[in-house]
Amino acid sequence: MTAPSFDQLFHPDNAGRYTTAMTDGLRLLLEQLARIDRPVTGLSPEVAAKPVLDVDLDRPLGDTSAALAEIRELWLDDTVYFHDTKYAAHLNCPVVIPALVAELFMAAINTSMDTFDQSVGGTFMERHLIDWTAARAGYPEGLRDGIFTSGGSQSNLQALLLARGEAQLRGVPLEKLRFFTSADCHFSIAKSARLLGMGDAAAVAVPTDGSRRMDVDELERMLADCVADGLVPAAVVATAGTTDFGVIDPLDRIANACSRYGAWFHIDAAYGGGLLASPRYRHLLDGIERSDSVTIDFHKSWYQPVSSSALIVRDLASMQHASWYADYLNPKESENPNQVDKSLQTTRRFDAVKLWMTLRVMGPDGLGACFDAAIDLAREVHDRLALMPDIETIARSQLSTVVFRYTNAALDEETLGELNRRIRSELWSSGRAVVAATKVDGRQFLKFTLLNPLATPEEILDIVEDVRALGRAVMEVAR
Ligand SMILES: Cc1ncc(COP(=O)(O)O)c(C=O)c1O
Repeated sequence: MTAPSFDQLFHPDNAGRYTTAMTDGLRLLLEQLARIDRPVTGLSPEVAAKPVLDVDLDRPLGDTSAALAEIRELWLDDTVYFHDTKYAAHLNCPVVIPALVAELFMAAINTSMDTFDQSVGGTFMERHLIDWTAARAGYPEGLRDGIFTSGGSQSNLQALLLARGEAQLRGVPLEKLRFFTSADCHFSIAKSARLLGMGDAAAVAVPTDGSRRMDVDELERMLADCVADGLVPAAVVATAGTTDFGVIDPLDRIANACSRYGAWFHIDAAYGGGLLASPRYRHLLDGIERSDSVTIDFHKSWYQPVSSSALIVRDLASMQHASWYADYLNPKESENPNQVDKSLQTTRRFDAVKLWMTLRVMGPDGLGACFDAAIDLAREVHDRLALMPDIETIARSQLSTVVFRYTNAALDEETLGELNRRIRSELWSSGRAVVAATKVDGRQFLKFTLLNPLATPEEILDIVEDVRALGRAVMEVAR
């Protein structure tokens, strides 16, 4: 089969073919979504790899419907469906329909956000959303700024680049800079220190307290030691919603420590940032207004398709550390508002339009209510699990994770770990549910991350019954 000619592939002079291809695609999508009755079919990596690797990419199929049939087989039939109520593993959200409509336009128009002359109104829509988000965080009008990024990892990297830049403006040599963050922070913080040329020792882990939040007394002690050793605390990173436990570090107390030591205060609210729109739980972020920068992942607790994230900053002057001017793109003398001036990316998707469309259809309260529902769900599930004699739980999350495991007093730690890993992989293979796993102080646990506002406590407790039944079955066999 030969490839279609140029005039069959581009629009807009091709409305007929455009409509047919889009309609075929939409039909397949809807059919597929209607067929799904479980979050995954449970293929192993070996089985998933074979048919994909057998495709000869030098031999095109030549038409859209054949290619759609192929991706259905290679991807759609066995992929993971985050909108299924029994997907309860990682920080993936089901996506809201207004955002999907915007995604289609974003891809079709192919706007790029680097310069005004590639985006026009898009530049101002993104800026307006950044300003709106930063206002919700309580940053001062006229000073606040920020940028959409590809995800929380990139937002954190940029925040720490700004923190490093501010310290270097004060003449501090790179090798003396330290970032302090909780032992339970996301790995992108330590990785950022490495990427920023500061070495692994520059990211210092502060122990957590009994509720798994950063121990601020320890932080104070470590900051004092840092200075006594002739080093400079360039930043403290609080996590507002740790990946595993969904807890929020004490923001106000950390802000106090930062002001005392002149350290940049960054908050990684990749997970908990959705609280900025929450009708009922916004107060959990009190103190956020005292930070210098915040990471917000719209593709987690704001129900947006991947990717959609932002870094917001208190003071736009700090964005200079991410700036570069090129004569062919954004010359220094340009009078246009060019977003590339403050971005780590050059060509960049108009992800902001998805959030724009979502807010214009649903409003912030409507969107925030989805995250509130997930938080309520996690609380109820946690409290029910805490009553079960063969289930061990970890302290209740402030957000929407539940860390737990099947337990039995007769088993030692190693066997319990093995048993829970086995339960998880059996659940995956059965396709009945997808749950995550993590270690707590070296001990193996399972984890629910609940973001789906449509999931009910009964559905999640059903997964727990599966976990218990699998646990009992494995014990039986071992006997
Ligand atoms: C607290 C936290 N920060 C940052 C990230 C990284 O975000 P992304 O996957 O969008 O890069 C995650 C991802 O789960 C996270 O939980």
